[in-house]
Parts: sequence; C-alpha cells; structure tokens
Amino acid sequence: MEALEVMNQHRTYRNFDEEYQLSEEELQKILRASRQAPSWMNGQMYSIIVVRDRGIREKMVEMNPGNPHMLHSSVFLVFVADLKRTQKVAEHYDVDYRINEGLDPLITAVTDTALALENAVIATEALGLGSVVVGSIRKDIVEVSKLLNLPDYVLPVAGLSIGKPNVEMKRKPRLHEEAVIHYDRYKDYDYSVIEDYDDTMERFAEARETKLWSKKFADYFGNTPNKKVDEFLKINKFFQS
Ligand SMILES: Cc1cc2nc3c(=O)[nH]c(=O)nc-3n(C[C@H](O)[C@H](O)[C@H](O)COP(=O)(O)O)c2cc1C
Repeated sequence: MEALEVMNQHRTYRNFDEEYQLSEEELQKILRASRQAPSWMNGQMYSIIVVRDRGIREKMVEMNPGNPHMLHSSVFLVFVADLKRTQKVAEHYDVDYRINEGLDPLITAVTDTALALENAVIATEALGLGSVVVGSIRKDIVEVSKLLNLPDYVLPVAGLSIGKPNVEMKRKPRLHEEAVIHYDRYKDYDYSVIEDYDDTMERFAEARETKLWSKKFADYFGNTPNKKVDEFLKINKFFQS
C-alpha cells in the first residue's frame, strides 16, 4: 500500500489469528523499517527486544491480563529507551556520564524509541498485518525489566503485539484539527471542540470505552501518576536518588 494510505487507514487490532506464523522475512522487514527511523544526532537511543520465549509472554499477560494479545499475537516486541550504549561510550573515553542530572536525555531517548515504534507500526500495516502498542507494560515496570534482563539506563517504553487480525476494526475518529493544529502560534480554542469530540466518540461507541473521552482523562490525571516509573528511573540511574 502507499505510505499515505497506510497511515490514513491506521487502526489498532487486538485480535489475531493464532495459527498465523509471521515469517522471518516479514519480521526482518518490520525491524529494518523500524531501525531506519530518524533519531536525535543519529544516536538511535533505543533497543528492540523480540520476545520469542512463550514463558516470558505468558508472564507479561499474567501481570497485564487486559492485553492477552501479548501472548496470542504472532510476535511480541518490546521497545526500550536505551541510554546504556552511550554509557559504554562514556566509559570507553573515561568521561563522566551525567545523564542523571536533567530530563533532556530521557526525553531524547524516549523520542527516538517512539519514532522507531511508529515505523514498526506503519511497516506492519504496509505488510497487511495489524498491531497493538502496549504502553501498559509500564504498570509493572520493575518486573518487566527483570523479565527482559534490562540493564541500568534502559527503560521499557512500550510493547508491540503484531499479527494477522481476525476481527475487523473501525477507523477511530480523531480530534478536530482546531484542537491540534496551530499555524505560527498556539491558539486557544473553545471547550466546545472537546465536547464535540466527546459526542463523536460516543457515536463511535467503542466497546472498551466506559466513559466519555474527556472524563476518562479528567479521572486519569486526577489520580497520582504511576510512581513505580519514578522509582524505576532512580534505581536504573536515569535520575539521582
Ligand atoms: C503509547 C501508547 C500506548 C498504548 N497502550 C495500549 C495498551 O496498553 N493497550 C491497548 O490495548 N492499547 C494501547 N494503545 C493503543 C491505543 O489505545 C490506540 O492507539 C488509541 O485508542 C487510538 O486507536 P487507533 O490506534 O485504533 O486509532 C496504546 C497506544 C499508544 C500510542
């Protein structure tokens, strides 16, 4: 499919044909496209774990039962922000490694990781397959990191379940461009734009959603953020304790 068509037709698929075996060739095409993503200073500050071990995938689902496709998809990838490689470089040159003194290195690595992740999503869809990004692996970030043997300076950002969809999904409407696209300067918009999107999403009636779109975020960000991530970032040397 043409790139624009693939991106404009994007939707997440969460049910996969368990009989379908992703070929090594398809997997390598996805990984290659993923690694060709742009990155800050060409730093490529991410790694991709191809999880082949069924036991690991089973444990991921035990921790996160809402995402059973982590086991039932054809392949499960985990995208990690990786500041370990640059730490090796610092060690090699015997210079200080000061990434824990500010937030920017983390933003850099997470951005590189997200771009590689999205390239994998697009490549998957270009091959006529489907995927789910699984950010909720960070719910149990310490356990996931142990399971994957991640060293210090490496942060699991998201999983990606890939497979052959066996349940059709509708393309999800997006916010009105007025709320998202700004020309030259950021321009505030009326709250009615959000209410309109609430109506649109109510009509869309996704089975997984139990709340209004806006209420979902009011509730979510009214709760304490996942403190396990803060703790993890300290233990794994992204931040000073
Ligand atoms: C960073 C990130 C994390 C996500 N985490 C999950 C997840 O843990 N479980 C899930 O089912 N979907 C997850 N999704 C998929 C989103 O729910 C989905 O992209 C969104 O609802 C828009 O729907 P669409 O992709 O079908 O257009 C995630 C997506 C992103 C970008």
